[in-house]
Amino acid sequence: MYRIVRKERLADNIYLMDVEAKRVAKSCHPGQFVIVRIDEKGERIPLTICDYDRKEGRITIVFQTVGASTKMMAELKEGDSFRDFTGPLGCPSELTTMTEEDLKSRKILFVAGGVGTAPVYPQVKWLNEHGVKADCIIGARSGNLIILEEQMRQEAANVYITTDDGSRGFKGNVNDKIKELIENEHKTYDLVIAIGPLIMMKFVSILTKSYHIPTIVSMNPIMVDGTGMCGACRLSVGGKIKFACVDGPEFDGHLVDFDQAMKRQQMYMTEEGRAKLRKIEGDSFQGGCNLCNE
Ligand code: NAD
Ligand code: FES
Repeated sequence: MYRIVRKERLADNIYLMDVEAKRVAKSCHPGQFVIVRIDEKGERIPLTICDYDRKEGRITIVFQTVGASTKMMAELKEGDSFRDFTGPLGCPSELTTMTEEDLKSRKILFVAGGVGTAPVYPQVKWLNEHGVKADCIIGARSGNLIILEEQMRQEAANVYITTDDGSRGFKGNVNDKIKELIENEHKTYDLVIAIGPLIMMKFVSILTKSYHIPTIVSMNPIMVDGTGMCGACRLSVGGKIKFACVDGPEFDGHLVDFDQAMKRQQMYMTEEGRAKLRKIEGDSFQGGCNLCNE
């Protein structure tokens, strides 16, 4: 069992929890995720790791209540426990594989959309610990949905707040701010890392492609097993089939087929949709070795 040692409401329907998970905390890296289950019959919920404390053996997760399972999760209190807390899963962020010289030579811009700010935070923190201060745009629909701003300000060179309704910071979406930074403030970036809703990552990638700035996105499709076997998180990246849980979750944003990912996400939710996908995708619908087709 994995005990919740701290719970905080960050914004409307957005919660943070520190969970005792010694084994995960010992070996996780920025960019990786966990799959949690409240009880034996509970749905498996994939969540990117927001922070970790190796000494205390704790993992920080942030989630938004979107369905029955996340609503049940939001009802858990400090002292309650998760039945499963599986991880770390997925590949660590590409940043963690670069040399310090390589990192220091790059100007990096993070684009954090809504709840996607949570997986951005450990990367910005990790960079700061390695002597690199990145810029970060935090975008949300409204000012009351901005999360982790203070924590981010401690780790980043500059934090830019944008809101769709103009209630905080710059009025507009994250792309409007990217354009302003590059075109009006003459900022230059060698790498953009965008994490947030699919639609945001799609349009950030289209924009950065026009500026020729390499861009990494973190995909969070529906996941079931998290081990590449079930096929739930199948994506098309550069025309090749990839599974977000084992090949990602980070991918080259200029190669991801976002339209297919959005359509598949919708279809996968219903039995009828899954049956159609099975027909379209054939053996690769199932993931894994493609021998099991049931
Ligand atoms: P949101 O709807 O508040 O949007 C966040 C930002 O995205 C806003 O600044 C908005 O302006 C921008 N945006 C939206 N459409 C855009 C477009 N067409 N072009 C440019 N910018 C655009 O975000 P939310 O409600 O917190 O998002 C929840 C979604 O984020 C869920 O679907 C969830 O699955 C996803 N999410 C993704 C990750 C990940 O790892 N990729 C992590 C957590 C949550
Ligand atoms: Fe990725 Fe099952 S969750 S293949």
